[in-house]
Amino acid sequence: MKNKPLHNLVDEGGIIAPARTKRDSDNRMIAARPQPRKKSQVETKNQLGAQYDGLPGSCDRPTGPDDSWRRIAAARAPAFDQSVPAYLLDEKYWFLDWNPAFDELVACPLGLKRLRNHAEDFIRELVNVEAVYQRSKKIFDPKNVPLIDVEPLVFHTEKYGDVEFEKIAVQISDAHAQLASWCVYLNITRAHRLEEMWDDLRASLESHLNWSRYALSYDKLLLNFDDYFDLVDLVVGKVSNCKRCLDLGAGTGNGTIKLLEADLDRNVWAIESNQAMIQQLISKLEKSEVEAGCDYFGRLHVLKENLLRLDDVKDILSPGSYDGAILINVLYAVEDPEKCLRQIFRLLQAGGRLVLSTSHRNTDVDKLFMRMQDVLERKNLFSQLSPNFHDARERHKKMEALIHRDTQQDIRGYLEGAGFRIVDWREKEYADAVVVVEALKP
Ligand SMILES: C[S@@+](CC[C@H](N)C(=O)[O-])C[C@H]1O[C@@H](n2cnc3c(N)ncnc32)[C@H](O)[C@@H]1O
Repeated sequence: MKNKPLHNLVDEGGIIAPARTKRDSDNRMIAARPQPRKKSQVETKNQLGAQYDGLPGSCDRPTGPDDSWRRIAAARAPAFDQSVPAYLLDEKYWFLDWNPAFDELVACPLGLKRLRNHAEDFIRELVNVEAVYQRSKKIFDPKNVPLIDVEPLVFHTEKYGDVEFEKIAVQISDAHAQLASWCVYLNITRAHRLEEMWDDLRASLESHLNWSRYALSYDKLLLNFDDYFDLVDLVVGKVSNCKRCLDLGAGTGNGTIKLLEADLDRNVWAIESNQAMIQQLISKLEKSEVEAGCDYFGRLHVLKENLLRLDDVKDILSPGSYDGAILINVLYAVEDPEKCLRQIFRLLQAGGRLVLSTSHRNTDVDKLFMRMQDVLERKNLFSQLSPNFHDARERHKKMEALIHRDTQQDIRGYLEGAGFRIVDWREKEYADAVVVVEALKP
């Protein structure tokens, strides 16, 4: 056992072992029910051999297969976001979406836009553009499109010099077995400043993952936290006359739903950059639509975009055409708050109203969580939600520096620097954790 290669061990573990068969009373071959396996050495010893202590977890082989398909299905979709740079193209090679690593390395520096840029726009920027172009013309023959395509790409970046990728593009089929889209992975094979690049990629993935993880606890906690409802009510109430509203950093969509519910003539643009948050928003809206018997999606426009790149999507969000914007607990998380506010200013029409809530230097996160615990305990929900509560606290710890980055004076400065006139300023909302500001575009 000690010297066997790893794939044999996996085989013996039964995960990919051939199905066993037995015969029924008519001597027909039928699949045998899997027998409970005896505890073997594989389960109790690590896989590296007696001379090693073993890596964490190696002695606790998963049970199953049983419902492993559930775990596999749950892991596959988010896995796209946490992998090497990767993107999705439609069947005509237009960008549908990409993951945070591609965003950091390619989409952001090139200013790519989803649904607006074609693969050509990326190819044009490659160091080996000529070879890639000539090859693509030959390989991607519309009458005989390959299932898979592999080729080297070289992309020049300001920060890391030339980056070399081994591209693997695979077809994704629709329910009728027709080409629906392409999934393209860029495996990084070389870069001039490789270490620096991986450090940056890791930081960006970590920050993205922090939001994705928070997306799972967010509603479980906050939809039971009255102070949060009060905050959303207060903010949405301040744009009550507005018919074309932006919900910026919409998260799981609590502001968006409130905006849609409160005025049936209102259109809402929900802008959010995190896929896990968007997924929560969509599934919640689908449910709310059925429950309320209202058409929400006819008045809702969801855009996956970074709030620092709103100027780049003028053909989707037209400048000067919105009368209201809300930004609930988002500004602290944005890298360049004044740049973000300047872009919101350009989107609003004259007289348009921005209402935001955000943390500041004196925000007491412990006090906020104590208050939340108090409310949940009063509702007898705390023990049930305790894993989410502790996870949410962890998410906040990772963002500690961002949460406390700005003084109230800084926030005032960002707003006025962007051109807004502040008409209301409150400091006592949401367990005193945020300022709520109402500002007008003169
Ligand atoms: C604390 S949540 C608030 C969500 C929502 N506004 C609410 O009221 O519940 C912050 C949200 O801002 C989003 N966000 C942070 N930075 C962003 C950026 N640069 N562009 C777009 N969304 C961003 C996060 O993904 C997250 O969903």
